[in-house]
Amino acid sequence: MKRFTFLLFTFFLLALATTNCRMSEKPVEKKEVVRGVIAKNGMVVTANPYASEIGLQILKKGGNAFDAAIAVQFALAVCYPRAGNIGGGGFLVYRKGDGEVGSLDFREKAPKSATKDMYLDKEGNYLTDLSKRGALAVGVPGTVAGMAAMHEKLGTLPFADLVNPSVDLAQNGLQLSEYDAGRFNTYQEDFAELNRFEIPLLKEGGWSKGDSIKYPNLATTLALIRDGGRDGFYKGKTADLLVAEMKAGNGIITHEDLEAYQAVWRDPVVENYQEDYRIISMPPPSSGGIALVQLLEGSEFFDFTAMGHNSVESIHVMTELQRRVYADRSTYLGDMDFYDVPMDWLLGADYLTKRFGDISMKQKTNSQDIKEGKVEVIESVETTHFSIVDKDGNAASITTTLNGNFGSKVMVKGAGFFLNNEMDDFSAKPGEPNMFGLVGAEANKIEPEKRMLSSMTPTIVEKNGELFMVVGTPGGATIITCVYQTIMNVTAHGMNIQEAVNAKKTHSQWLPDNIILEEGAVDDSVVEGLKALGHEIDSRPSLGRMEAILRLPDGRLEGAADYTRGDDTALGF
Ligand code: DON
Repeated sequence: MKRFTFLLFTFFLLALATTNCRMSEKPVEKKEVVRGVIAKNGMVVTANPYASEIGLQILKKGGNAFDAAIAVQFALAVCYPRAGNIGGGGFLVYRKGDGEVGSLDFREKAPKSATKDMYLDKEGNYLTDLSKRGALAVGVPGTVAGMAAMHEKLGTLPFADLVNPSVDLAQNGLQLSEYDAGRFNTYQEDFAELNRFEIPLLKEGGWSKGDSIKYPNLATTLALIRDGGRDGFYKGKTADLLVAEMKAGNGIITHEDLEAYQAVWRDPVVENYQEDYRIISMPPPSSGGIALVQLLEGSEFFDFTAMGHNSVESIHVMTELQRRVYADRSTYLGDMDFYDVPMDWLLGADYLTKRFGDISMKQKTNSQDIKEGKVEVIESVETTHFSIVDKDGNAASITTTLNGNFGSKVMVKGAGFFLNNEMDDFSAKPGEPNMFGLVGAEANKIEPEKRMLSSMTPTIVEKNGELFMVVGTPGGATIITCVYQTIMNVTAHGMNIQEAVNAKKTHSQWLPDNIILEEGAVDDSVVEGLKALGHEIDSRPSLGRMEAILRLPDGRLEGAADYTRGDDTALGF
């Protein structure tokens, strides 16, 4: 009987499809059900296939998620040099199989001789290029200290075994994808202008898919780190070469800055969302955790499931929430070691009820009415995220960055790695936007040894007390809103994790007072609906590069790499 009903129903659907075909003269679009990679014993999701493979091999050798994460971080410095790094910084959010959670801050710091006005001229004008390009834009790198600290607390395999695959990769070389070649080609002029030697990424006539590239100096530096741990970077030859690079380019990082750098274990932001979920995310100096929780808790005042994914109503409400959250970010958030961030207050139910209580479904709010600021553009640049879970349920969520594509574009001569341009994440002048159009004030002003405010949001979500999701993305200011939407896509819109990653995203951030829609996110009627509510609409070809893992109800892991937006690869076993 059941079979008969099924056949009848299939026949009905087919008939309907044929009728529709005839009526509209175009085939009915079948909604393809996409799934990520599903595996039981471990999952590695990164932006690059070489890095994912290296991480997977560490898991197969018996390493845990944190061993694999260390290996991936070093691998990305070789195979994904526009964001993977040893000359930058990042954040780890972790959850061990036994439920212990924590976070590690290996964010760059301002050098000891940095000053509040270091990017201003005598008249107080902001010299915007200085915080973005060249040696003065560089913050004291944190990555190697971070990996050493992570290994000491959470690793199981010898440190050398985790760095070695990257030494080999840099030495033996690798083949470029079309995507890699395109990125290398875009920055040829910058590489030539900002470096005092022929860096390996320079190529006359440009790069093509399948070209191979080797990084012999980087291999030597990685071998020093493999053998010396953090001292292989912050002392000795690598430190000498880094400081020489500073001197050659008017940078200010000294040996003392390098030796003083410490990664810091911090209590993560941990908050409940709806009845079942618990969000574990990055605290300051990232704005990510606080802003994400504000957005999710604000979302509880609305019925997003009823509004539907990327509808006029849901985009309108997300924008209104984001407008308020980003205004808070700009005013109240900075490095808590220097500035008293009112975290409990910002996440308190009383505050959030008031903060979101004036959202109207009939009309947008003007950002200028929330608080003043001045913003022009948001550039598209690079960072990278990776998510790893092992067979024991240990989970690592890491976002790491040089800030812009290839950071400051300065490669350390003789050492072969790019330096970050993270100093641009400070508020160089109150009210002046940085490269992501983000404005800041006192909380994020430049001070010696302070960490610049970040948007990076490596996040882990629990459901009913168990590991549920590991997620994060690059994207500067858009990181927070893309992580938020990916979580909402699963929790409110019923998507599986690969659909949630693939889904087109939207973004708004208080200033500029607009909504950015990823191309293809909505149809014209939604754009018109949003305009009718007063919104100004802009678009971008791409938003976010999510790398996510979801633990399925039967305990298996589904790895969702953002393969529609890059070379991103999920590998499990
Ligand atoms: O820490 C931050 O928020 C920025 N430096 C991240 C930069 C970034 O995500 C660029 N990515 N596409």
